[in-house]
Amino acid sequence: MPTRLTIIGSGPGGYVAAIRAAQRGARVTVVEEAEVGGTCLNWGCIPTKTLIASTDALELARSVADYGVELSGDISYNLQKIRDRRDKVVGTQIKGIRALFKSWGVDLVPGRGSLISEEVVRSVRKDGTTQDIRSDRIIIATGSRPADIPGLPFDGNSILSSNDAVLMQEVPPSILIIGAGVIGCEFAFLYRSLGSSVTVVEMLPRALSAEDEDISALIEKELKKAKIKLITGARIESMKRTTDGVTALLSNGQEVRTAKVLVSIGRALNTEGLRLGDAGLAAGKRGEVPVNDRMETVVPGIYAIGDVTGIMMLAHVASRQGIVAAENALGGDVRMDYAAVPAGIFTRPEIGSVGLREHQAREKGIKITTGTFPYRALGKAHAMGEIAGVVKIIADAGTDKVLGVHICGAHASDIVHEGALAITMGATAKQLGAMIHAHPTLAEGIMEAAEAVHRNAIHLPREGK
Ligand code: NAI
Repeated sequence: MPTRLTIIGSGPGGYVAAIRAAQRGARVTVVEEAEVGGTCLNWGCIPTKTLIASTDALELARSVADYGVELSGDISYNLQKIRDRRDKVVGTQIKGIRALFKSWGVDLVPGRGSLISEEVVRSVRKDGTTQDIRSDRIIIATGSRPADIPGLPFDGNSILSSNDAVLMQEVPPSILIIGAGVIGCEFAFLYRSLGSSVTVVEMLPRALSAEDEDISALIEKELKKAKIKLITGARIESMKRTTDGVTALLSNGQEVRTAKVLVSIGRALNTEGLRLGDAGLAAGKRGEVPVNDRMETVVPGIYAIGDVTGIMMLAHVASRQGIVAAENALGGDVRMDYAAVPAGIFTRPEIGSVGLREHQAREKGIKITTGTFPYRALGKAHAMGEIAGVVKIIADAGTDKVLGVHICGAHASDIVHEGALAITMGATAKQLGAMIHAHPTLAEGIMEAAEAVHRNAIHLPREGK
């Protein structure tokens, strides 16, 4: 069995692969040029969700009167303390990964990794010193970075990337967000809660276009309620810096004056400088490292995982790919399966989705039946004061198997896992609807939506009545 494994990158793909490989008895080295944890921990999932937890607290404080609670004095926030809390949370997780590395004997080598051959990874430190690491197996886990608009590069001042936005140096009076994808929508609610006037421009006809149409429709309604302006079907033609910000010209002829611009139009893959060619590899059209379902590249012994594979840019997908790669690199035979990948989007309310979307079923010609159930028909949602939301279940019209579960509403990202389990186990909508769900919970919405697939939901009126 091969015993030496080198991993380039310590994000949720790389660090998880490292620990699993060490658990299997390998001697593991991780080359990392920045802090452990990658984008997820340092710039993405964790810091943004920590900032969002602060704005959730702020929104709750603003609405306490609705719950019969009386607070005296103004409700305000302290940006420095919000940032300090974010740094503390991130710092704790960084220490956690470092401690796990230590306990499993994973070697962390600081520096920028590149491939010298099929067996050697070179780490170049900031001071120029180098270290060559020879191993039996290599895993590339170098991730991605915010993509900019050609000709309008990030400047960290008026044109921000999501990395700049996470730093949250200030709350601008106004911000124009380009791209109503995952990052754009999360930041739209975040900035709005902190008091910015927010405009979002999206070139496609709807926000969160990868999600189910019913989910997009609900989030568009909530954007409107929050007084966030969404302009769809438009691109940025040009941007001009002014003394107090930026003036952007849109393809629909509209001009938007704004203090800051956040560009969230997707991410670029980190393959530049990796010297893939020196190990016999070549990047694909989008800069990705192509892999098969065992996470193997075309070069035996070299694996790739996470964003850099260009498959699905989600931390938890990277982690699973990391486990698959580590097991296979050490003699196992494990394959990736993307049929039931749940995902959370932390808008207000949040989104949890897994599996097939209705538009995908149309595109693929799959015959489906759907059931939807609104949060406002759930006693628990009323008790919580969180009645905006919907659960939608997509089932195969022939077999009744659950193919997709899409939820927009409080705690959607947690309760969606019931849907992931249903899809993984091949459960039918009938089985899901017949499963006893505890009352009062938000998960009852899943049971009711499953019953609604067969027009049997107890808490929905008869159709057309
Ligand atoms: P995205 O792909 O989700 O959204 C980009 C949006 O920008 C798309 O709707 C696209 O149509 C639009 N767009 C592209 N060029 C444009 C232009 N010139 N003008 C106007 N609109 C334009 O990418 P995003 O939001 O940058 O996120 C990157 C990745 O990170 C995604 O794959 C996402 O899944 C992942 N991510 C996941 C999170 C989560 O799971 N909660 C949180 C944040 C990011």
